[in-house]
Amino acid sequence: MTAATPLVEIVSTGRYLPDRVVTNRDMESILETSDEWIFERTGIRERRLAPPGMTAAHMGAGAARIAMERAGVAPEDVDILIVSTATPDRWLPATACDIQALIGARKAVAFDISAACSGFIYALTLAEGHLSTGRGEIALVIATEKMSSIVDWEDRATCVLFGDGAGAAIVRKSSGERGILGTHHQSDGNLAELLYRPAGGAAIPMDEEVLRDRTHLVRMSGREVFKHAVRAMAGASKQALALSGWELEDVDLMFPHQANIRIIKGTARYVGLPMEKVFVNVDRYGNMSSATIPVAMDEAIEEGRLQPGMKLLLVAFGAGLTWGAMAVRW
Ligand code: ACO
Repeated sequence: MTAATPLVEIVSTGRYLPDRVVTNRDMESILETSDEWIFERTGIRERRLAPPGMTAAHMGAGAARIAMERAGVAPEDVDILIVSTATPDRWLPATACDIQALIGARKAVAFDISAACSGFIYALTLAEGHLSTGRGEIALVIATEKMSSIVDWEDRATCVLFGDGAGAAIVRKSSGERGILGTHHQSDGNLAELLYRPAGGAAIPMDEEVLRDRTHLVRMSGREVFKHAVRAMAGASKQALALSGWELEDVDLMFPHQANIRIIKGTARYVGLPMEKVFVNVDRYGNMSSATIPVAMDEAIEEGRLQPGMKLLLVAFGAGLTWGAMAVRW
């Protein structure tokens, strides 16, 4: 198969993480849990939690400013601003519009997408479509998540898994070999209730009963999600590789959604990649939903691990269920 030609490339990244570090030991003081239990099952040691006044928009704007500065892009140059979030600050308007106002991206068309943990790569695909059909030159893709605001702090099986943070990327038309090659996205709404917030939306609006039963908070069937995650991410990775014209051996670095080290290891094993080629930081941040991939990429660049010319595989899975993978030449 001949190699695909990229339409757009990621030219820079940025990240914003709240300062407050909450370790598993800290969790022991508020929940009946232990560092051993959490670490053994998830690989998580600590996560960042945003203070009450810090919104998803603040974190997203922080990550965006860094990505724009690194790309030499002024806010007023941004043509499209897409925000992936499972934790919008308000139901109306989109968090993207709040970020637009915060950073001064005056001419950008701004909107949110809802694809849970898969949202960053879904948003990259939307940016690719927008730019490659001539609707603009510069896209700002942001994933920002204040997961601490939607998890149930009385449910020890879920609240220990998540953290807060944001990542961002500037995307432009590709000028050469760099860029997004094969992409595969998939969803299965029949499995929506494996990971969801049962109430608090239009179907069951917020009322005293909802608040009492805490059904506006995240509910998850952990084992089922685990099983689907590994299978789906491995399948999507293979599809993206086939579409890009790459062999498995070509992949230099994989950026899997950072939900859980066992899901990451299972995915790598099914795909056939050694863990040396897999970027992991779930130990320090937990699951920041769609923000995990851009934050990981940003750290890999800073550490010098992500080098020009490398062939990358981004792969994610989340509520919906949604999943997908993307082959990217860096
Ligand atoms: N501390 C101590 N004990 C706990 C905790 C905790 N934090 N949470 C649950 N337990 C207990 C349970 O009460 C249960 O006790 P019991 O046997 O007395 O009833 C026991 O541990 C086992 O509970 P399980 O839920 O069966 O534990 P399991 O081994 O399945 O691990 C886990 C749970 C870690 C959530 C696992 O299912 C998992 O990793 N699932 C993947 C979910 C995930 O990562 N989702 C992220 C969102 S989707 C995405 O981003 C990909």
